[in-house]
Amino acid sequence: MATTVSFINMKGGVGKTTLAAQVAHSADKSDIKTLAIDLDPQANLSQSLMTPEKYVRHLREKKPTIVQVFDRYLPPSAEYESPKKIDIRDVIIKKVGYWPSSTLDLIPSRLELSHSLKNPTGKERRLAKALSTISDNYDLIIIDCAPTESILTEAAYFSSRYVLVPVKPEFMATIGLPLLARSLEEFKIENDDHTIDICGIVFNHSSSYSDGPEGRQAIKEVTQEAKKRGWRAFDTHVHYSASYPKSAREGAPINYTSYVRYEVTAEFDRFKGEFFGAIGLKEK
Ligand SMILES: Nc1ncnc2c1ncn2[C@@H]1O[C@H](COP(=O)(O)OP(=O)(O)O)[C@@H](O)[C@H]1O
Ligand SMILES: [Mg+2]
Repeated sequence: MATTVSFINMKGGVGKTTLAAQVAHSADKSDIKTLAIDLDPQANLSQSLMTPEKYVRHLREKKPTIVQVFDRYLPPSAEYESPKKIDIRDVIIKKVGYWPSSTLDLIPSRLELSHSLKNPTGKERRLAKALSTISDNYDLIIIDCAPTESILTEAAYFSSRYVLVPVKPEFMATIGLPLLARSLEEFKIENDDHTIDICGIVFNHSSSYSDGPEGRQAIKEVTQEAKKRGWRAFDTHVHYSASYPKSAREGAPINYTSYVRYEVTAEFDRFKGEFFGAIGLKEK
């Protein structure tokens, strides 16, 4: 059965999507059968894994997205001339990975997902329920979350065994952590049959300023905060590299991105090793 991990931080721009895409590629490379789920209406993960052109075509052809998992039906189309009960398998795009032998699957998002937020009643368990019917098909399920807390965060919690928290070392980096802690504690109290843990915090230097004194101060504060709460901070930091945005544009894993430096790929591999260890996933 798959281990499900949500990438969450109530702040944007910290590297949730970047790391989700790279972890998905790495797992794919290691023959770890992976499903990536884009739970952010901005759909950056979908574009990064599918390429923007294929993603736009997907929307133009009115193919299903995560929206239908929450709506629980597929709207009428050229194929089905009345609404059809959703099967999550209809929403999964197969083989979105970089290699021809890829087994990486994706549930893409779209902007209309934000409508679910307007009428959220009773929707928070729908993703978890749908995943329960297919989780045996995977080793790893990665959920890339939106930065604001909403019904979508709750849907991610209901679906997940672990939460990975990417943190950008900058002024006020600690502010999101108590918010996340509180939201997770509330969830655990309301759902005491559910086991969910923070598997770790990873410092991701998504701007080149993160290496300066402000960044170092933030790392100290966040590390203290994490220790206080019994959360692990991974030893490996993912440092700033222009190869990360480039890899998203090229739709490529970091180690296949053009002109990427060895230190960058070696560092990402170390992070991946720590992360897989923390969630008990064995590389094949
Ligand atoms: N380690 C990194 N080095 C360089 N740029 C990065 C790094 N991590 C993320 N970025 C860039 O920072 C921006 C925000 O990252 P993203 O993964 O979209 O954050 P989030 O999903 O948390 O909002 C993106 O443009 C991304 O390419
Ligand atoms: Mg994102």
